[in-house]
Amino acid sequence: MIKIAPSILASDFARLGEQVQLVTSAGADYIHIDVMDGHFVPNLTMGPALVKKIRPYSSLPFDVHLMIEKPENFISHFVEAGANIITVHVEACKHLHRVIDQIRGHKIGAGVALNPATPLVMLEEILPFVQEVNVMTVNPGFGGQAFVIEMLEKITRLRAMIEARGLNVDIEVDGGVDLNTAPRCVQAGANVLIAGTSLFGDNAKIKEKIDALRQAAEKTKRAKVSRVGKKTKTA
Ligand code: DX5
Ligand code: ZN
Repeated sequence: MIKIAPSILASDFARLGEQVQLVTSAGADYIHIDVMDGHFVPNLTMGPALVKKIRPYSSLPFDVHLMIEKPENFISHFVEAGANIITVHVEACKHLHRVIDQIRGHKIGAGVALNPATPLVMLEEILPFVQEVNVMTVNPGFGGQAFVIEMLEKITRLRAMIEARGLNVDIEVDGGVDLNTAPRCVQAGANVLIAGTSLFGDNAKIKEKIDALRQAAEKTKRAKVSRVGKKTKTA
């Protein structure tokens, strides 16, 4: 099943609680929260206190994407604030397995994120321990950037890697996801679509946009399944 995860980075920060409420009632599956520290990425966003403040506005899982150095120092704070899944960057963790273990120790979901230039080989040993992999389709730090098209092939290889090992790991795509790129991501094997700029901006259209993104993605998935079905029939 395809999951839609609105990235509140693109929402109206002056009305954050209401924006979270809005995407929740509009049928989103996760709330994607981008945490930046000005060191790992050249931007600053939100911390645990803010996450705690918006927690009452949604019953959806909070998917917290930590784009920070030394994420191990902040995990318990984000758990207390209400995170349900925490994703850390492989590039930011010297002891990645320990950090993933730390997250799982709080009985929440753990994920890893990869910058566009980071090869999949970095996931070899950690894959069995995570619930999701965030394949960054832009360089982290800002919303509204152009989708790096070469990442589609990386998603395809990652899906094959997960299947070859018989694992059940979600593939998230993050950055530049819209009606054009989403179907291609799903075709490649992604099942969680993180989208900021393409969803927020006009409150009156948020539901319509979430529905359209889901529809485009589900259609692609169906097309893929039916092609496989046909192949099996004729074989
Ligand atoms: C980028 C963030 C993304 C970003 C996606 O560093 O991780 O979640 O907000 O935003 P759009 O959809 O605007 O590319
Ligand atoms: Zn993100």
